[in-house]
Amino acid sequence: MNPVLIAPSLLAADLARLADAAAEVVAAGADTLHVDVMDGRFVPNLTFGPGTVAALRAATDAPLDVHLMIEAPERWIDAYADAGATGLTVHVEATPHVHRALRAVRDRGLEVGVALNPGTPLTALEPVLDLVDLVLLMSVDPGFGGQRYLPAVEGRLRAVRGWIAERGAATRVQVDGGIDATTAPRAVAAGADALVAGSAVFGATDGVAAALARLRQAVVSSIRPM
Ligand code: DX5
Ligand code: ZN
Repeated sequence: MNPVLIAPSLLAADLARLADAAAEVVAAGADTLHVDVMDGRFVPNLTFGPGTVAALRAATDAPLDVHLMIEAPERWIDAYADAGATGLTVHVEATPHVHRALRAVRDRGLEVGVALNPGTPLTALEPVLDLVDLVLLMSVDPGFGGQRYLPAVEGRLRAVRGWIAERGAATRVQVDGGIDATTAPRAVAAGADALVAGSAVFGATDGVAAALARLRQAVVSSIRPM
């Protein structure tokens, strides 16, 4: 089994000092930085663009896991690749051309991710499961940090983990939304091996290092499915 990766979501950081926030979580042992790109159409919020990703790339050597919550993401793959993203995750709901979008990510040599909203049937994943390095199952409807974890993701995590195990593949399964020291072990026990956490990390009153340690400690003891 893969070790569990922790990806702090910079959406919950102080946006006026993103580079400092990135450096702080990397120093505290974050495995990757999660960058939430929103276009005000696919989700009801606006956040970062390629310029922000390029600025982060210049500020840190850490992997940049870019979550594209934008319509027709195939239009923007080159821009985010040029900006220095390490991986790009696109939503199946955001394009009628999901293979084209995923192939564009692969062609740029980046890690390929596909994401599903909580209400999207898992059957939408089947046609593309063999084409991706990472499956992102949302545990909130995307658009904002600080929302409540939807436990129905756990059955979905189990199903996807089972499909990946049947294939003998190394595909990662990432969970995003409402992850903290209480929900993280549940998601990991259900099959997640990559955790996105925004407010639980940057909103912690005792600091990001303590928050990351709490998350790690919480998942160390969770029972991993085989
Ligand atoms: C939600 C984003 C998440 C968000 C998570 O639309 O995709 O990555 O930042 O934030 P928390 O951990 O606060 O739910
Ligand atoms: Zn995200």
